[in-house]
Amino acid sequence: MENITFEDREFYKDELSNLLLAEKIVLNRIEEHRKLIYKKNNGIDYIEHYKSRIKSAKSIKDKLKKRNLPVNLESALNILNDAVGIRIICKFIDDVYSVYKWIENDDFFTVINVKDYIKNPKSNGYRSLHIIVAVNINDNRSINVEIQIRTIALDCWASLEHQMKYKKNIKNQKLIEKELKRCADEIASTDLSMQTLREVILEN
Ligand code: GTP
Ligand code: MG
Repeated sequence: MENITFEDREFYKDELSNLLLAEKIVLNRIEEHRKLIYKKNNGIDYIEHYKSRIKSAKSIKDKLKKRNLPVNLESALNILNDAVGIRIICKFIDDVYSVYKWIENDDFFTVINVKDYIKNPKSNGYRSLHIIVAVNINDNRSINVEIQIRTIALDCWASLEHQMKYKKNIKNQKLIEKELKRCADEIASTDLSMQTLREVILEN
């Protein structure tokens, strides 16, 4: 299922199985919930697709270094919250908040923190709803998991922007950033139009 490397095993040690368990619990929960709403809404599912990953040891180490935190497993698990990451992609903006409402009310999850970059986009134009939830893996242990929820269109932008971020020393960087921001705003506005269209169709 996962692309776990030797370096990851070396870094996470015995905790790896706990992270994988937390990931599996959340994925199972999403799948169960999906079946339920699918039935309830006569075949309409507000989740388009979802994916998950265990953060690579390399990314965790880079992030800890960048934040001047001790580069060890303790800070990775106690300070960073995204060793386990789930991304849920929805069709419409309203669906993003429906998923959020479900997570908030589901006893499986305890919401620790919410960052709404849809209502408050980042300066580069990034939009997504980020939730940190605690998930019980047994009676005396919970693991924090980052859940990102966004629309297909917002996800498309984020994937392309993510790819471009890694190109260093590009020419016309300022212009490219400005254009990327413009695309993000256009996509956000398209999402709203699509939302309106859906409402009109539903009213018919
Ligand atoms: P990091 O950004 O991971 O250091 O954590 P943070 O505590 O600042 O959390 P935040 O909610 O800002 O971002 C968490 C995750 O969201 C990141 O690891 C990325 O997966 C994603 N993300 C945040 N900002 C951007 C962005 O500008 N572009 C893209 N493509 N993804 C982003
Ligand atoms: Mg960040």
